[in-house]
Amino acid sequence: MTERLKTLAEGLLRAGWRQGIRSDGTPFGFTCPAPHRYPHQWYWDSCFHAIVWRHFDPGRAREELRTLVRSMSPEGLVPHTVFWAGRARWRRAPVYATASLFGSMATAHTQTPLLAVAWELVADGDREFEREGVGPLARHYDWLESDRDPDGDGLVSILLPDESGLDDSPKYDRVYRRLAHHRPGYFWLVERHRRRGYSTHAIVERFDHHVEDVLFNVAYALSLRALHRMSGEPRFLRRAERAEAALMERCWDQRRGLFFDLATPSERQVDVSTWSSLTPLALTALPEEVRRRLAEEHVLDPRRYGAPVGIPSVSMEEPSFRPGFDRFRCWRGPSWVNTAWLLVPPLRELGYEDEAQRIVRSLADTVERRGFREYYNPLTGKGHGARDFGWSTLVVDL
Ligand code: GLC
Repeated sequence: MTERLKTLAEGLLRAGWRQGIRSDGTPFGFTCPAPHRYPHQWYWDSCFHAIVWRHFDPGRAREELRTLVRSMSPEGLVPHTVFWAGRARWRRAPVYATASLFGSMATAHTQTPLLAVAWELVADGDREFEREGVGPLARHYDWLESDRDPDGDGLVSILLPDESGLDDSPKYDRVYRRLAHHRPGYFWLVERHRRRGYSTHAIVERFDHHVEDVLFNVAYALSLRALHRMSGEPRFLRRAERAEAALMERCWDQRRGLFFDLATPSERQVDVSTWSSLTPLALTALPEEVRRRLAEEHVLDPRRYGAPVGIPSVSMEEPSFRPGFDRFRCWRGPSWVNTAWLLVPPLRELGYEDEAQRIVRSLADTVERRGFREYYNPLTGKGHGARDFGWSTLVVDL
C-alpha cells in the first residue's frame, strides 16, 4: 500500500466531514458518503468511515459513531439515513422511507447493523469507550430482536430491500418484483409501511412480506459477539449463537454450498448467488468445512467470484450478473470495496494468504488508477457511480 493512497484517503474523509449543531440543539459530526451525491449520514457507511478514520484521527472515528447513536429512536432503531444538516429536498424526499412524506429528520427504516462491530474496532481496547457504548448498543440490538424477529426463529428481518444496503440486488427481483427498489412500485411499498408506522408486526400480519437476509443477519451475529466481548453479558453471545445456528439450519444450501435469504410468504430460500451468500465466511464459529466450501468453490473460483478486480457483488455465473454501470440499479455485479473488506480477513485466517493478497492488491491498484469510486467493473477495473466515495477508503484498512 503506497503512502500516497493513505494520504488521498485521509484527504477524502476530511473533505467529506460535516459537523455542527442541529436546530434542536443536538451536535453532530459525520462523513458524508459522497459530497454531491450522498450529502446525509448513512448507517453502514458511517460504520465503515469510522473504521478508516481510526487510522488517521481516532477522535473523529468516535464522533462519527456517537453521532449515529444520537440519531437512535427511543425504541432503538438506528435510521438508515439521517438528515442532520438539512432535510431532504422535495425532489428526493419521496424516495426516503420516512415517517411523514416531508419534514422528517431521519428515515424510519434501518440498515445493515454493523454498529457494534465498528464500535469495538474504534475502541481498540479502550474500556472506557467500550463501556460508553454498551447501553445504547444494547438498546439497538434488543430492538432488532424484539421488533425484527416476528417468527422468533433467531433471524432478524428486513422490511425494505435497501435495509440490507444492497438496494437493487438481483436476489430481490423475484421477492419484490414491481415493488423493488428503483421500480415505480417502491413508492407504494414505502407508503404501505408508512401507513402502518413501520411496525414489523403490523406489516407482517397484513402482508406477510419480509426477508430474512443473510448479510443483515451476519452483521447482526458479528455485532452481538462484539457486544458480548465489550459488555461481558452472556445473553448477547447466546443470541449470536442462535442466529448462527439458524443461518446454518435454514439458509445453508448443502448442494450448492451457499447461504440464501429466506423470503415470505413461503419462507423459501431465494437461490441467487450474491456476495451476501458468501458473508457467513466471516462467522468464525461456523463449521470449517462450510467456510472452506464458500472460499474454494465460490470466492476464489474464477468462474464465480475470482474476478481480476476485487470481489463482485453477484456471481459472474448468474444470468443477472452485470459488471458495469446501470443508472438506476446497483449491486448487480460490480465490485465494491466493502465486499472484499468483509471477506479478506477470514480468507487470511483460513490460510488463503496469497489469494487474499491478490484481491487487496487488485483493489489498491485500481483505486490508485481510477480514484475512490463507488464501485468498479470486476473485469476491467473501470470506476462507476459516485466519485470520492467514502467507504472505498476501506482499502487502507485492508
Ligand atoms: C447506495 C448504496 C447503499 C449506501 C448508500 C450511501 O444507496 O446502495 O448501500 O449506503 O448508497 O452510500
